[in-house]
Amino acid sequence: MTRYSKFGERFRAQTGTRQLMEDLGEVLTSGRPIMNLGGGNPGTVPELVAIFRERMQQSLDQGKFEGLIGNYDGPQGHQPFIEALAKLLNRRFGWALKPTNIATTSGSQASFFMIFNMLAGPLANGENRHILLPLTPEYIGYADVGLGPDMIRSIRPTVEILGEHRFKYRIDFDALKLGREVAAVCVSRPTNPTGNVVTDDELTQLLDLTARHNTPLIIDNAYGLPFPNIIFSDVTPVFAEHVILCMSLSKLGLPGLRTGIVIAAEDIIQNITSVNAITMLANGAMGASLVRDLIESDEIIGVCDSYIKPFYQSKAEQAQEWCDQYFDGIDYYLHKTEGAIFLWVWFPGLPISDIELYERLKQRDVLVLAGSYFFPGLDGEWDHCRECLRLSYAQDADSVRTGIEIIGEEVRRAFGR
Ligand SMILES: Cc1ncc(COP(=O)(O)O)c(C=O)c1O
Repeated sequence: MTRYSKFGERFRAQTGTRQLMEDLGEVLTSGRPIMNLGGGNPGTVPELVAIFRERMQQSLDQGKFEGLIGNYDGPQGHQPFIEALAKLLNRRFGWALKPTNIATTSGSQASFFMIFNMLAGPLANGENRHILLPLTPEYIGYADVGLGPDMIRSIRPTVEILGEHRFKYRIDFDALKLGREVAAVCVSRPTNPTGNVVTDDELTQLLDLTARHNTPLIIDNAYGLPFPNIIFSDVTPVFAEHVILCMSLSKLGLPGLRTGIVIAAEDIIQNITSVNAITMLANGAMGASLVRDLIESDEIIGVCDSYIKPFYQSKAEQAQEWCDQYFDGIDYYLHKTEGAIFLWVWFPGLPISDIELYERLKQRDVLVLAGSYFFPGLDGEWDHCRECLRLSYAQDADSVRTGIEIIGEEVRRAFGR
């Protein structure tokens, strides 16, 4: 029997993130049709695939390919990409970033592992600090990355009912208190799993509060502006000296190339660069090099506006229509869909747990994510946590429609109808 260190033991327990990634693997290898409303895989946007194919072909034809695969980049990331990105963000949003404010990582998930552990956990003076999520439900990937005990705490939102079958979570600022024990505040915008977009007003309040307490504000922009722009409400991106803005190439359609981006004050970027060097030597350069000229030429903006956003927006609308059709007669609420690639559905009074519902759906070859995984660090009992599911609408329409139909059947059965 292998004897593991605390670090080794830390990764042995079953976690929501691992289950999600294993379910995704099962979809690829099972050999039978599975309705995949589970993982966070982006959809296949044909125009984007064509663009990346063309870029790859050019790189082969022009002899750049050998340089790409045959060299380590520096640990901060692919410099031409970093320089182009700093200029794009400054052009679009009037920011004053230098290349020294940007580093790349092997995906946002790796960024959070570094940033959370860099800021939270035990300090040299014995204090223990945590990452505070001002709004739950929040991204499942944050739940398990902390190496220290109790690294995530979160706050219950207020629930605003928006109509017969719609609602929206809002930050409860009365409950949001920052003290010395808060290492950083973190929010995804748009939010995975709910499709919520924290409003400009909420973000301004968060920015002011964190600035006053000299606390970093981590904004996870995996679905946001300027790319991939899977955001259906009109909001403004922000950056400030104390903001750590995390981005990713995954939802552009490149999750396999594992490219995350961190934009922050220079000392944080230097720290990320060191972790990159120590744990990985360097990141892969393929993703950065494939999108670099789209960023240099601003084409990335048109590509996201013309192809990515409409692709997901029409899927989101269609999936909501199917929910309204197949959940008819059930007490249900969908979260207002303002971005990202998921529907979040709440079945008040659900007589079985969300985990049991997940299992029953899996038996019927429908993969979803049980909602209770998305409330990391929340104190106190709240039935709501066991009454929700996350449904991805990114995959093919037939699977999504059939999946939603079967969810309707199983929920009805659970209610004994
Ligand atoms: C909110 C959010 N942040 C980060 C990530 C991770 O992205 P990456 O593929 O860059 O690790 C995801 C992936 O689904 C996400 O939904």
